[in-house]
Amino acid sequence: MKPPIIIAIDGTSASGKSTNAKLVARSLGYIYVDTGAMYRTLAWHCLKQRIDTHDPKAVTTASRRWKTRLRCDEQNGLRTVHLLVNGYYPEREIRTAETSAAVPHVAAVPQVRQWMVKRQRECAQFGNLVMEGRDIGTNVFPETEFKFYLDAQLEERSRRRAADGIQENLAARDQRDSQRAVAPLMIPLGAMVINNSHLSSEQTSGLILKEIQSRRAR
Ligand code: DC
Repeated sequence: MKPPIIIAIDGTSASGKSTNAKLVARSLGYIYVDTGAMYRTLAWHCLKQRIDTHDPKAVTTASRRWKTRLRCDEQNGLRTVHLLVNGYYPEREIRTAETSAAVPHVAAVPQVRQWMVKRQRECAQFGNLVMEGRDIGTNVFPETEFKFYLDAQLEERSRRRAADGIQENLAARDQRDSQRAVAPLMIPLGAMVINNSHLSSEQTSGLILKEIQSRRAR
């Protein structure tokens, strides 16, 4: 059996990773994986259990003890992998301002990242993937030929978040994600870099699809 094909999409916050990863996954019939949602789920779990998200030891213990499993769900015609906690996917809860503020601290803990990377690699059991995050091309699936890095000007990214009704200090979060010691956000070797400040999502995903086609033909 052929090994599954992995499309890795990394980039800054609000650079259009989710929208474009979903468009690409739909177009190719691949499974979509949002790895940020996995880190958010652990941050939410810690907040709910009153675990101090600034305490790496406590967060590591939580990641060793929580009861999780991966499930591939069909959502509006798109197959998506979800990380369930005690059988539950906290879809809305992981998007609150409180969870967003806590998640970079949780994501900076090396043992948490090890745990997450294992789960993310396990997603390949479901089939071909479009996986978005911050370290997919550098750390989770560094061997894939299909790596993309999305970015846009800070003003444009802040405008996008505000249009979604979310007020957030993106610069601060990106700085924390880029400066952490383990698997910081960076451009993966061999990635196609797309600055989409002036591009629509159709144009951005079109560029990604065209590049995948040309790399597959090589
Ligand atoms: O993409 P997002 O905003 O949902 O990501 C939430 C947080 O998780 C973000 O601060 C960066 C972190 N993250 C990470 O460190 N590595 C990933 N592969 C995905 C997300």
